[in-house]
Amino acid sequence: MARTLVGLDVGSHSVKVVELARAGGKFRIARAAVVPTPPGAVVDGAPGDPRSLGTAIRAAFDQSGIRNRRVNTALGGRAVVIREIRLPTMPDEELAQAVRFEAERYLPAGSKDAAVDFQVLERVQEGQTTRLDVLFVAARREVVDSFAAALQGAGVTPEVLEVTSFALMRLFQEDAREGAVVLADIGADSTDLLVVHGGRLRLARTVPVAGNALTRAVAGVLGLETSAAQAAKEEKGVATTGPGSVADPASARIADAIVPVLGDILTEVRRSIDYFQSRWTGEAVRKVILVGGTARLRNLPALLADELNLPVEVGDTFRAASADGLDPAMAPVLAVAVGLALRGAEP
Ligand SMILES: Nc1ncnc2c1ncn2[C@@H]1O[C@H](COP(=O)(O)OP(=O)(O)OP(=O)(O)O)[C@@H](O)[C@H]1O
Ligand SMILES: [Mg+2]
Repeated sequence: MARTLVGLDVGSHSVKVVELARAGGKFRIARAAVVPTPPGAVVDGAPGDPRSLGTAIRAAFDQSGIRNRRVNTALGGRAVVIREIRLPTMPDEELAQAVRFEAERYLPAGSKDAAVDFQVLERVQEGQTTRLDVLFVAARREVVDSFAAALQGAGVTPEVLEVTSFALMRLFQEDAREGAVVLADIGADSTDLLVVHGGRLRLARTVPVAGNALTRAVAGVLGLETSAAQAAKEEKGVATTGPGSVADPASARIADAIVPVLGDILTEVRRSIDYFQSRWTGEAVRKVILVGGTARLRNLPALLADELNLPVEVGDTFRAASADGLDPAMAPVLAVAVGLALRGAEP
C-alpha cells in the first residue's frame, strides 16, 4: 500500500490529526480525530506540559485509528515569529549567522540558541548592489525541545516540523495565486492573521483574541462557568450586526456579550489589510478566508463581509482532500492539519 500522509495540528484547545490517502490523482481524508487538549498542556501557544500533551497526541492517534506514526507537524501562534527581511548579499555561512542575529531580536530577551530556519526568496537589484529578501521563522529553543518531548512521548516521529501558517498557505495556494488574500485562523487562544500575495507571505501576526475571549465574555455577561459558557457560545452563539437582529432571547444575550470581542478581531483584520495596502500600493485584498474552530460561529463570515466590504468565506479544507463521512462543519477545524499533511504531496 502506498504510504499515507499524516498531519498533526496541536492547538491549545484541541489536537487534530488527519491521514490522507491518494485516490486517483487526488486526496481523500481516510482517518481523522480531534481530541481536547488538557488544561495547561499548551500555554501561550507553546507546549507547557510535554507529558500531558504527549498523552493527548497519543489519544488522537488511537481514536483515529491512524497507524502511520511519521507525521508532519508544526508550531504556530505565539510560539513562533515569521518575518521577511532584506539583507546584503554575503557568503552562505555568513548569511546563516546574519539571519540568526536578526531573528533573535524578535524573540524574548535571552533566547540564545533559538531554532531558526530561513529561505532566500529573491535577489533584488538595488542601484549598484544586490540584496536578498529572506523569509525566516524562529522559535525559542525550549519551545521546540518541549514539543519534541511531547511527540516522543506520544510515539510519533516528526517527518517535518514547520509553522502552521505555511500549512495554511499551502492549503489555500489556489486562492492566493492572484491578488492578495487574508487567511485568518481564529482558534481558542489566539488568531493568526496572514496576508498572502502572489504566493508570498506579506504579513504574519498573532493576536491573543479568539474563542477563549468570546467564551470569557459569555461567562461574564451571562454569569456562567467557563464550560457552560463555551457550550452556550457554540450552540447558540451568533455574530450579529446589531441589537434586535436575533429572535431567540438566549442567542440575543450571547450576541450582545460577544459583539465587543468580535469588534476587536475585526479591528485586527482591518489593520492587517491596511498595513498590506499601504506597503503594496495599488494592490487590494480580494477576500478573507476564515479557519479555526471559531470560524464555525454562526454568521461570522456575513458580519465580517459586511464590515470589511469584502467577500469572506469559511475555508473549504475538503476541496483539497475529500472527506466522505466527516461533518462539513469540521472543515475549518481541520485546515491546518490537512495543510500539514499535504506537505508530503509536493514534489
Ligand atoms: N460552533 C462553534 N461556534 C463558535 N465557536 C466554536 C464553535 N465550535 C468550536 N468553537 C470554538 O473554537 C475554538 C477552538 O478552535 P480550534 O480548535 O481551532 O483551537 P486550537 O487550534 O486548539 O487553538 P489555538 O490555535 O488558538 O491554540 C474554541 O474556542 C471553541 O469554543
Ligand atoms: Mg489552532
